[in-house]
Formats: sequence, C-alpha cells, structure tokens
Amino acid sequence: MRRIVTLMLAGGILTLAQAYTKEDRIKDMQILAKAMEEIQTGFFYNNKDLVNEGALKLSDTINRIQPPLSEAEEKDPMARYMNNKIKVSNKIKKKIDQKARNIIERFRDNDPTQAAQSYTDIVKKCMECHVQIRQW
Ligand code: HEC
Repeated sequence: MRRIVTLMLAGGILTLAQAYTKEDRIKDMQILAKAMEEIQTGFFYNNKDLVNEGALKLSDTINRIQPPLSEAEEKDPMARYMNNKIKVSNKIKKKIDQKARNIIERFRDNDPTQAAQSYTDIVKKCMECHVQIRQW
C-alpha cells in the first residue's frame, strides 16, 4: 500500500514537472540575466571559464523557455496570433543559442572582439522578444 502511494506521488510530481508555468519562465529569465552578467564579467576579467560557464548556462536555459502550457493551448480567437508569436520566439531562441556557442568559440580562439559582437547580438535578441512577446 505504501509503495502504491509512493508511486502515485512520484507520478504526480512527474506530471507537475512537465508543465512549464509562467513562474518557471520568470525563473529561467532570471537565470538568463545572470548568465549574461557572467559572460560580461568573464570578458572584462579575461576569464575564459566564466565566459564558458555563462554561455553554456545561456544555451541550456534558452532551450527550456516556452510559452506556459495554458498559453500554448489557447483556443480563443487570439490563438492564431499566439501561434505566430511562438514561431517567432522559436527563431529568436535558436539565434541566441547559436550566438552563445559563437561566444565560446571566439573567446577560445582569442578573438574577444567577435565574442563581444555575439554578446551584443544576443542582447538585441533578448530585447526583440521582450518587445514582441513580453505581453504574452
Ligand atoms: C521567447 C521570448 C523571450 C526571449 C528570447 C527572452 N525573454 Fe526575457 N522575458 C520574456 C517574457 C515573456 C517575460 C515576462 C515574464 C513572463 O511573463 O514569463 C520576460 C521577462 C524577463 C525578465 C524579468 C524577469 C522577472 O523577474 O520578472 C528578465 C530579467 C529577462 N526576461 C531576461 C532576458 C534575457 C537576459 C534574455 C536574453 C538572453 C531574454 N530575457 C530573452 C520573453 C523572452
């Protein structure tokens, strides 16, 4: 009996873990902001580890970002509009992921100028999504 209860609890937790909520997204956004800080500090202190760590965290987190399930399943007349936003945001996410990889490669290859360029490109992409999608 106890085992069944444990299994049911575990199942419940798994289901919960799959639903991406607005709170999750805000938390991930804060991780993104922190990762950007780390990359910038890494640039200024010429600390490759910090740059790598920040860029990896950025890639990892940006791939997790998605509209909360409730918004993705929106059925009202706004649905088409929402879906379009999701497509747009996927493009932006892909770009950020690419640029994060660029940062790691350029900094490793002693080309901090290009690494900084990729960093600036990412800031622009963050803002692009915020302008277009923040009102999700
Ligand atoms: C896919 C679209 C999208 C992208 C890309 C994006 N954001 Fe956001 N961001 C949002 C949305 C939407 C919110 C509003 C919070 C919410 O309702 O989930 C937000 C909110 C935030 C917040 C405020 C969180 C809080 O505590 O209220 C920060 C900080 C943030 N983003 C940082 C970033 C950074 C840094 C990047 C780029 C690396 C970025 N975001 C890229 C959509 C995006």
